[in-house]
Amino acid sequence: MKIENSSPARLVVVSNRGPYYLRMTKQGLKREKTVGGLVTSILPMLEKRGGGVWIAWGERAGRYPGAAGPSPFDLRYISLTEEQLQGYYLGVANNALWPLCHSFLGRVHYDDTEWETYRQVNAQFAEAVLEEAHDGEIVWVHDYHLALVPHLVRQARPESRLLFFWHIPFPPVELFRTLPWRREILEGLLASDIVGFHIPEYADNFVEAAVEILGAEARGDQLVYDGRNTQVLARPIGIDYEAVSRTSRARVIEERARRIRQNLNGQQIILGVERMDYTKGIFERLEAMERLLERRPELYGRVTLIQIVTPSRNNIEAYRQKKRETDEIVGRINGRFSDGFWMPIRYLYRSFTPAELMAYYRAADIALVTPLRDGLNLVAKEYIACRPEADGVLILSEFAGVSQQLPEALLVNPYDRQDMVEALGRALAMEKPEQRERMLLMQKRIKEQDISWWADEFLSRVDDLAAAKPIHRYSLGERDMKPVQPMPLVGIG
Ligand code: UDP
Ligand code: G6P
Repeated sequence: MKIENSSPARLVVVSNRGPYYLRMTKQGLKREKTVGGLVTSILPMLEKRGGGVWIAWGERAGRYPGAAGPSPFDLRYISLTEEQLQGYYLGVANNALWPLCHSFLGRVHYDDTEWETYRQVNAQFAEAVLEEAHDGEIVWVHDYHLALVPHLVRQARPESRLLFFWHIPFPPVELFRTLPWRREILEGLLASDIVGFHIPEYADNFVEAAVEILGAEARGDQLVYDGRNTQVLARPIGIDYEAVSRTSRARVIEERARRIRQNLNGQQIILGVERMDYTKGIFERLEAMERLLERRPELYGRVTLIQIVTPSRNNIEAYRQKKRETDEIVGRINGRFSDGFWMPIRYLYRSFTPAELMAYYRAADIALVTPLRDGLNLVAKEYIACRPEADGVLILSEFAGVSQQLPEALLVNPYDRQDMVEALGRALAMEKPEQRERMLLMQKRIKEQDISWWADEFLSRVDDLAAAKPIHRYSLGERDMKPVQPMPLVGIG
């Protein structure tokens, strides 16, 4: 069953980051897509479903029918003051929850005043939800910025149909316990009918935290707390595979990819793409590249790493520091190995449109996706969707949630330089038949488990709940995102 037919109910999507930056120009209001995994997946979901409203933070507050363009949904932007953004977004969301959930406890900063602001802003979002949502409509709240919204909406309107998806890892309970506001966050989420995570590990961590910290009761895949049941579901979010794959075959993209390859004179191209973030392992990856070149002088002039880094969360010192470190190490490696004609690293620090990125995906022989920790990682999926010839090699961190779906990638521990160097060597030498064998299996799975599949997994369940139909139950250990069995691969020793 595809989402287009699964439920007629209008969707009310709620997230901090909205799909577009809106800017007034002489020609009128212009929109430009924002960057991040949440928007990449949720935008096509809402476009395909048609009908709905997306509530988010935006500098130009207001209600925009058709999302200020020809979209089949409306946009409602809530404006926040500088002080609110400081406490809620930069403070609690990105200086407390983000590092905590990615297991960077040393980077965590807890501040009670910021927490007050987080509560206040969540209440502001909940008010907007109550204004926008009508009877029977599904409210789908997204991510760690808005953990209190389900509870606030439920209090005001007990019969609401509420979904929540947590897009980042949920940490082990030993770490989560350090959060001074742990109870409120858990209670906030448990007011939802369904709480979703990408993979069973995060769902299990959440269940453990709810049981240990709140005393909730785990029954199958349900948590019982405060007289209500909440289903906990693990499903990795998808991309709009067909659309990405189709667009990547357009002539203009092929032509761009050809120019990228031509500029590098037939060298093997390794590609990295991410927001500037300490979770993404950019520094470790560059060091692995340096070590590879130290060990293999025969690669000089034959291989280039194109590292795309998109500016992100510049107002946070930890992010600015990562940028400085990255600039330095790129300078050091290029200074050390360049010979005046060849430069091992092309470092591009700016934001790219999806179409521009596709040209790089098509041009690259190897995608190096090696975050230290990542909820899922969509870049890996996009690379796979942009390989019409089913060639190319994906080197993937075992600490990215998506690695569970992609056992045919070359899986690496990004903290282990030697492991990274070996994987690079193996990828550079991999013959086309082996590339194809692996790529076809990955393509099949990412195509099947696309954004429509993902949305339907949640929306059909919430419909079942509303109709009070029995829900298929799973035990916690075998929640039905079964760990993917590595498929037999030919020619892999
Ligand atoms: N992206 C983009 N422009 C850029 C860099 C990234 O549109 O300059 C997109 C990329 O194609 C992907 C998303 O941003 O869809 C990043 O998602 P991912 O899950 O990899 O990481 P996140 O940024 O959400 O942590
Ligand atoms: C991750 C988060 C999203 C966020 C995105 C970009 O994907 O899960 O919620 O939107 O990063 O980060 P930003 O802070 O720019 O919204």
